[in-house]
Amino acid sequence: MSVLACNGGTPVIEPAEFKRVIWPPVDEETAELLKELYLSRKWSFNSEMEQQFEREFAEYHDAEYGIFMANGTVTLECSLLALGIKPGDEVIVPGLTWIATAMAVAYVGAIPVFADIENDTLCLSPEAFEKAITPKTKAVIPVHLYAGMADLDAIIDIAKKHNIAVLEDCAHMQGGKWRGRGVGSWGNIGSFSFQQSKTLSSGEGGICITNDRELADRLYRAKHIGYSRFDAQGAALSGPPADLPCHNYRGLAFSALLLSQQLKQLPERISRMNEFYNDLKVIETIPGIRLQAPGRQASPQGCYALEIIFDPEIWGTAAQASAALRAEGIPLSSGNYGPVYKNMLFNCQNFRNTGCPTAEFIGTQAVSLSHTCMEYKEMVPVIEKAFRKVYEFRKEI
Ligand SMILES: Cc1ncc(COP(=O)(O)O)c(C=O)c1O
Repeated sequence: MSVLACNGGTPVIEPAEFKRVIWPPVDEETAELLKELYLSRKWSFNSEMEQQFEREFAEYHDAEYGIFMANGTVTLECSLLALGIKPGDEVIVPGLTWIATAMAVAYVGAIPVFADIENDTLCLSPEAFEKAITPKTKAVIPVHLYAGMADLDAIIDIAKKHNIAVLEDCAHMQGGKWRGRGVGSWGNIGSFSFQQSKTLSSGEGGICITNDRELADRLYRAKHIGYSRFDAQGAALSGPPADLPCHNYRGLAFSALLLSQQLKQLPERISRMNEFYNDLKVIETIPGIRLQAPGRQASPQGCYALEIIFDPEIWGTAAQASAALRAEGIPLSSGNYGPVYKNMLFNCQNFRNTGCPTAEFIGTQAVSLSHTCMEYKEMVPVIEKAFRKVYEFRKEI
């Protein structure tokens, strides 16, 4: 008789019974506030609600300025424009990330240069970054990926030595802190996404944070067709600098309201996720299983999802193992981003790959557990039971 659920056996837990947060969150208080905002007619154009969220989010992440935008792709593009990145410049990005990190580089006419990731945190390797530098390198985009953080100390040291700007892609890292100071406030600019599945979500949305006043002005003008923050609609007092192409990438007050409400819950949510992570380390006692490591100086670590890595010699590919575990009721993803330059949606022809064997390995050997599954640590024994069961009968997968 078959034991594994993928072969007709009884699952460890019925998928519907696995406790997880229903995402995105909704509540009556926010619905009322949305109605008030709607009736106020103050929906955009540097509305009070946008300004309030910009202040709250920047302060939470220890930055002086917040610039709210339409999504976390245009925040990257505006950051590169604000930093003065020009066509033909090279920008170093990790081989493993969502395509937006590299496409933003292409949007400003620059060349994405892929460098490998670390085997433990799965974020940009400082050594690979340094090796990829050429006289054309003008910026680096470390990504704080899933439940890891790039080594900001090492990366910023190297960048300073070579006079390279640092743009932190914090799309996955709302609320994460490095040595107790918010991610995004360490580099020249930090960029965040609030797309539907993110740890803070308004369906779509993004923000840049910075401690540099001039960059804050350039970011604001880049997203708001050249206006400065202090200009009234239709009455610009000054124009943007000649080297700064400007767009309409404004966000909506409704999104800012949703995010301001969710931000209040973030510290408790992150602390529950960190507890879950610590308990889940028990599955590393099963042969061939390891968890993505948190940032070396994370305090606390933020989480968009957690990568679980399967040794191919013991488990085969992560896709096979995760299909068997999903059949047991554990809501793992069926894959992960994989190396950007192999993603079928990555349509940029002009890039340089410095060699990313670790990104390629993780592309086939890791799957994710969403942040929505990381708030109930009582689920950890269930996950452990399913992993031990599938390990025991892995020959039958
Ligand atoms: C690492 C990373 N950077 C940038 C983005 C782009 O954000 P958005 O989808 O809000 O444009 C994402 C979104 O998934 C992401 O995961």
